[in-house]
Amino acid sequence: MIQSHEPADVSRSRPHAPPATSFATYPASWYLFGTAAEVRRGPVSKRMLGRDLVAYRTDSGRFAVLDARCSHLGANLAMGHVSGELLVCPFHNWHYGPDGTCARIPGTASIPAFARQGSYPVEERHGRLFVFNGPVALFPLPFFSDGKPDDYSAGETFAFTGDCPWYVTTAHGFDLQHFQAVHDRRMLAPPEIDCPAPFARRNRYRAEVLGLTRMDRVLRTMAGSTVSASITIWGGTFVLIEADFARARSRFLITSQPLENGHTRCEGIVFARRHDNPAIRTLVDNVVLPIRRHFTHGYLKDEASRLRQTCYNPSSLIEADREMAEYFAWLAALPQVAAAASSPAGAEWSAAPSERSHGVPELQLPGS
Ligand code: FES
Ligand SMILES: [Fe+2]
Repeated sequence: MIQSHEPADVSRSRPHAPPATSFATYPASWYLFGTAAEVRRGPVSKRMLGRDLVAYRTDSGRFAVLDARCSHLGANLAMGHVSGELLVCPFHNWHYGPDGTCARIPGTASIPAFARQGSYPVEERHGRLFVFNGPVALFPLPFFSDGKPDDYSAGETFAFTGDCPWYVTTAHGFDLQHFQAVHDRRMLAPPEIDCPAPFARRNRYRAEVLGLTRMDRVLRTMAGSTVSASITIWGGTFVLIEADFARARSRFLITSQPLENGHTRCEGIVFARRHDNPAIRTLVDNVVLPIRRHFTHGYLKDEASRLRQTCYNPSSLIEADREMAEYFAWLAALPQVAAAASSPAGAEWSAAPSERSHGVPELQLPGS
């Protein structure tokens, strides 16, 4: 029998958080694939989410993302070419459509059932391609609560790597202790935490900016000394941050991509309201957005480097970590499978790790 060395009332008050095995290796969510411009030049393959993916643009202008390794003998389809709506394998010229089906095998009219690539929902927005990890998007590509994508201009993407799992990275949004300890923000009221949509969890809070860093001094002078912030995390990996100061508002997103070594690739994009006036728009695109990008990237990269090697230990969470523990419980309960009614042709996803998929949800076809 295991004996506790703590007073009973202490262990009883601790929040419960799920074991690390509860979290998907590669959650069903939206991820940044890359720029639309690079895919317009020809098929592009990237290693992400534990597999090789290929993006291509059909002759009619549609983007598609497929598993990159050909179902025949594994050639990388990114080395092939586009023919109309189809992507042609460089090896034996099998032709695949945007939905992954094999439309043509030269020299034969018989197409075997295994001749098929996994295909992924893809959205173009602000010159980027975002891909959903699954055959059906479980939720639309998220955006800020106060506007449509066309209302905003986007800065260049910035990136940094966190050497901790994706769920530890995004849990910062609900780690109330760290707002003061790391970011010098003093909470002015208890945070409001809710789920505005089935795959979204949000933390809204008001805080005073106390920091003495260059960025915080600039913030207080230019924007104001208090902030109303909203952090919304979709699918556990796609983070939208809205921060309103007395004289300025900040909008940025972070996509968190689990890497095969257990680290997390974080990519960020800052936004600003689009102006109808072309001169102001040019100023925003060439001056305001690069400055915001510089400060936001620096701030997040600095945090990631100071918090190296943090890890998940559900048994070491205390009462002050309750909101974070509840976030972990929410994450562990997120569906990883598309509802059967919305799955194509009865296909369904299994989130159970397997030897072949290394934990990536795999498409289980009827009869397979
Ligand atoms: S490896 Fe692709 S067609 Fe043979
Ligand atoms: Fe943080």
